[in-house]
Amino acid sequence: MAIKKILTEPNKILRQISKPVDKVSKEDQLLMDDMLETMYSANGIGLAAIQIGIPKRIIVMDISKNEDTKSPMYFVNPIIKNKNKEFSTYEEGCLSVPNQFAEVDRPATCEVHYLDYYGEKKILKAQGLLATCIQHEMDHLEGILFIDYLSKLKKSMIIKKLSKQKKSSDALVI
Ligand code: NI
Repeated sequence: MAIKKILTEPNKILRQISKPVDKVSKEDQLLMDDMLETMYSANGIGLAAIQIGIPKRIIVMDISKNEDTKSPMYFVNPIIKNKNKEFSTYEEGCLSVPNQFAEVDRPATCEVHYLDYYGEKKILKAQGLLATCIQHEMDHLEGILFIDYLSKLKKSMIIKKLSKQKKSSDALVI
């Protein structure tokens, strides 16, 4: 397993639409292992493949936040169905939008149809944090970030801040 570099906004790659996986291969499983390790090392609860620059419809998540017993979840080619008409609000962040947080409304419950780590067809009924997290990650597959739901002003302020952070982190400190 290996820790990969997580791309951050602004970055055109994050805006790509990811492609479906034909069949879950050994290579895809290795990718999921790397994604999970990368996510854990960055203290995230979800990561989409495109966030490490790979445009495949693959997501890993672990919302357990428990150091002792990890509960990794793997979603390949996920599709969301039966979105609730009622919304719930969470303060969201994103590993690709570092240190920025904002409240986002999303359908409170949903159903996810997907392939698991072994390529088996699965259906998950999600609610609460799980529902929000899977919808946030699914957005990544469409090139959407949570800041896209904010007002134009708020979004441009965040992007400005991120661009500044990026410049200073690229600078040489001697
Ligand atoms: Ni994210």
